[in-house]
Amino acid sequence: MKVLCVTGGCGFIGSNFIRLMLAGHPGLSILNLDKLTYAGNPENLADIENNSRYAFARGDIADRAFLEEALSRGPVDAVVNFAAESHVDRSILDSGPFVRTNVVGTQVLMDVCRELKIGRFVQVSTDEVYGSLGPDGLFTEDTPLAPNSPYSASKTAGDLLVRAYHHTFGFPAVITRCSNNYGPYQFPEKIIPLFISNALAGQSLPVYGQGLNVRDWIHVEDHCRGVEAALLKGRAGEVYNFGGRCELTNIELTRTLLRLLGKPESLIRHVTDRPGHDLRYAIDCSKAERELGWSPRISFADGLKSTIDWYLGHGEWVEHIRSGEYAKYYEQQYGGRL
Ligand code: NAD
Ligand code: TYD
Repeated sequence: MKVLCVTGGCGFIGSNFIRLMLAGHPGLSILNLDKLTYAGNPENLADIENNSRYAFARGDIADRAFLEEALSRGPVDAVVNFAAESHVDRSILDSGPFVRTNVVGTQVLMDVCRELKIGRFVQVSTDEVYGSLGPDGLFTEDTPLAPNSPYSASKTAGDLLVRAYHHTFGFPAVITRCSNNYGPYQFPEKIIPLFISNALAGQSLPVYGQGLNVRDWIHVEDHCRGVEAALLKGRAGEVYNFGGRCELTNIELTRTLLRLLGKPESLIRHVTDRPGHDLRYAIDCSKAERELGWSPRISFADGLKSTIDWYLGHGEWVEHIRSGEYAKYYEQQYGGRL
C-alpha cells in the first residue's frame, strides 16, 4: 500500500491514526479529507503538516464532486473512514447532521470508492450499534444491532450500508467496532477530557444521574493499532470488535480522575440523566485477537496517567478550543475560509 486516504483525520481518533501510520510505515503517504466541523481541529496535526508524505483537503464526505476530485489526484490504494458526527448528546439535540454525515456521507464515499475501484475500505464504527447490556454479558460481532441514540442509529445505518455494498457489489470493506476511547487530542465534550479540563479550572463535573452507567475504556493508540490491523489483515465483509477490557462506572471514573488530579470530590455535581442513556457497554474482542493478532496493550492506570499529563502539558490546546480560537487555525495556516 502506497497511498492511504483517511477521512475525518483532524478529529480525535483520526489524527492519532495518521500519526501512528506515518511513523510505522515509512513508504506510505496519507491524504486526509476532513470537513473541519466543530470537532475537526487542524492543530491536532500541526506537528506533521509539513511532512512531505502528508496532504490535506478540506471537504465533506457527502459531497460527491469534492470526493471525485480529491481521490482522483493520484492512485489511492485504500480508504479508512473516521469522518462522523460522534457525540451522543449533540445527536439528541439535532440528529440531522448525524444522518447527513454518518449515513449519506458513508454511502457517497463508498459510491466514489467503487467508481474509482479503490481496493480496500475500513468503516470505523462503534460498539454503541449493539445497544445496551444489562449487568452481565459482552457484545460479540454476532450481537443483534439495537441502537438507542440518534448517534448510534446513524452509525448502524452506515454499517448496514457497508454490509449491503459488500454483499451486493463485492465492495472490499471491513467494519471495526470499538468501545469508548480516551487519550490525547480528544475534544473536551467527551467525559474524560471535559472532566479533566473542568477540574483543572475548578469547575464542577456534571455526572449524569447516579453515575452508575458502565463504559469499557480503551486507549486511542490501542484502537488505532486495531484499525491498522483490520486495514492490513481483516477479511472483507467481516466485523471486528475492539475493547480495552476495562469496565468502569462513570462515578468510579470521576473519582479516579479527581484523585489523580488532586482535586476534591466536592466538584462532583449530579445532573439530570441523558435521555435514553445506555446502561452498560462491554466488548468481547477475542475475534480480533485470534484473526488479527491484535490485543490492547496499554493499561488503564498507565493510559489515564499519561492522558492527564498530556492535558496538563497542552493547556493552550484546550484553551484554544474553549475560546473558539482553534477554528481560526486553518485560515491562518492555509489562508482558507472557514
Ligand atoms: P471526532 O468527532 O473527534 O472527529 C470527527 C472528525 O470527522 C472531525 O475531524 C470532523 O471535522 C470530521 N467530519 C465530520 N463530518 C464530516 C464530513 N461530513 N466530511 C468530512 N469530515 C467530517 O470523532 P472521533 O472520536 O475521532 O471518532 C472517529 C470515528 O470513530 C467516528 O466514526 C466514531 O463513530 C468512531 N468511534 C469513536 C469512539 C470514541 O470513543 N470517540 C469509539 C468508537 C468509535
Ligand atoms: P461520552 O464521553 O459522551 O461517550 P458515550 O456517550 O459515547 O459513551 O459519555 C461517556 C459516559 O459519561 C456516558 O455514560 C455519559 C456520561 N457523561 C456524564 O456523566 N457527564 C458528561 O458531562 C458527559 C459528557 C458524559
